[in-house]
Amino acid sequence: MGCDPVETVRWASGAVRILDQRALPGSVEYLDCRTVGELAHAIRTLAVRGAPAIGIAAAYGAALAALTASPGPGFTGGVEAGMDLLEATRPTAVNLSRALTSQRAVLRDPGNSGMIFEALLANAESILAADLEASRLMGRHGASLLHPGSRLLTHCNAGALATGGLGTALAVFYEAWDRGLLASAFADETRPLLQGSRLTAWELARAGIPVTVLPDSAAAGLLASGAVDAVFTGADRIACNGDVANKLGTYPLALAAREAGIPFYVVAPLSTFDPWTPDGPAIPIEQRDGGEVTSMGGCRTAPAGVSVYNPAFDVTPHELIAGIVTERGILRPPFDAAIAALPQSPGR
Ligand code: MRU
Repeated sequence: MGCDPVETVRWASGAVRILDQRALPGSVEYLDCRTVGELAHAIRTLAVRGAPAIGIAAAYGAALAALTASPGPGFTGGVEAGMDLLEATRPTAVNLSRALTSQRAVLRDPGNSGMIFEALLANAESILAADLEASRLMGRHGASLLHPGSRLLTHCNAGALATGGLGTALAVFYEAWDRGLLASAFADETRPLLQGSRLTAWELARAGIPVTVLPDSAAAGLLASGAVDAVFTGADRIACNGDVANKLGTYPLALAAREAGIPFYVVAPLSTFDPWTPDGPAIPIEQRDGGEVTSMGGCRTAPAGVSVYNPAFDVTPHELIAGIVTERGILRPPFDAAIAALPQSPGR
């Protein structure tokens, strides 16, 4: 990669520092969240987003809760309330609740008494470090699927801005570029909030990787034209049978890839697998404000009073997925057996 890595979420002397993704691609601004309420607002409003990144942010948020809770008999309850607030911000990405499950165990461990803040901060740092390493390994495993001259398409942003490392799906793009395997990178713009054109294109361009942005509705035609060799996306939650929740528009992309005979791969760390959710229909799907659909850049694009259907994610059935790239290697169908054989990830 020909540039400094993006620092999406870090601990910075008493604050959770996040790169404010609402300002991209126009400007690079950092936001220091000094209270759990500020961090919860930042997660809800997508200043920080992407499944692994919000898990890391919430893990640091638990440390922030300990730093800001009143000492005394109500301390543990205060920290737990902070974690509850964070957990309620976004329901679909399981990395968030898994990071907080891990932090709750740290909070309750009698061995940490008297040094709760330090223990929570250390655990958050280890969740970040694990994500960095997972990203590196997913990039390598994913690139092993490619041949020189590969033309790849992705959806939403599954890059450095969505994780603690170089990303999930985009880690494959970065690795392929470094190995000289990547001929073209296509990024769906990703309506309604444009994570593809605002964030993925920004990241790839910053790294010197030429990228072509397209409207989501152009993807099926592009795949059918033979201009793409494989599709790689991230995931927000993977159920036990291999069904995958990811950004709205992923399911139609997988259908189009199947129709065009192009492999559709999902790239995700173990922290995105949910051992308590049997299948896609059981995954909670976040519904977002209708204003995200009825206006753009402050301008109304639909008549006032119109009703809106705005799920943030959809579910891609496992039958449409050729492989799931993890830090432990590439899972192939039947996914239920492959997933059951995975080791436990931190936070499980
Ligand atoms: O609503 P967002 O921007 O948080 O949605 C993000 C996605 O759907 C990503 O594709 C997913 O989190 C994988 S990121 C490595």
